[in-house]
Amino acid sequence: MNSDHAALCSSPEWARYIAEEVLPHALGHLSLGTEVLEIGPGYGASTAELVESVPSLTAVEVDARLAAELAAKFPAVSVVHGSGDRLPFAAESFSAVVCFTMLHHMQSVTAQEELFAEVRRVLRPGGVFAGADSVATPALVEFHGDDTYVPVDPDVLPERLTACGLTDVDVHIGPDGKRILFSARSAST
Ligand SMILES: C[S@@+](CC[C@H](N)C(=O)[O-])C[C@H]1O[C@@H](n2cnc3c(N)ncnc32)[C@H](O)[C@@H]1O
Repeated sequence: MNSDHAALCSSPEWARYIAEEVLPHALGHLSLGTEVLEIGPGYGASTAELVESVPSLTAVEVDARLAAELAAKFPAVSVVHGSGDRLPFAAESFSAVVCFTMLHHMQSVTAQEELFAEVRRVLRPGGVFAGADSVATPALVEFHGDDTYVPVDPDVLPERLTACGLTDVDVHIGPDGKRILFSARSAST
């Protein structure tokens, strides 16, 4: 993350936006079950909400410093330093996997698809994959400056999730017009 990003994502305003606008629309209609994995928690805006509402929360963060800070801040969360496209967990470990505003920070479309495949692998049958990412705008291109920015196209996201073996795919734009909200399931056996 560049410094503008770091300032935004660690701010109380961002935490409020995640808690009041993003999570209710992204997850409000879903049952996440008992073992939940969050990919790319950053400064923990969404982690702070999730840890209060799920019995067991694991978080995977690629930035070593952020992972260490999260582990100190959230002792109830199992924080792992790692990458969403190479998840260090056994198959069918989780009832749900979530990620917020992190897919566009991955290095490539291929890396995003490797993450989707890993999500499919670690989800139990019938498990939920859900989250949100930002609708691409010229302002966001500028905001990312020297940072990685691989925006997610909402029109092709359904077929990308389906191609990774996920089912019941729903992709739509949230009420503020700024968020792509998505959910899908690992097929029941
Ligand atoms: C813009 S921040 C969003 C953080 C948080 N989800 C939120 O909404 O406040 C994106 C986060 O994803 C992390 N990230 C990027 N690529 C990742 C990867 N391959 N695996 C895990 N985390 C990743 C970044 O280090 C950063 O902490």
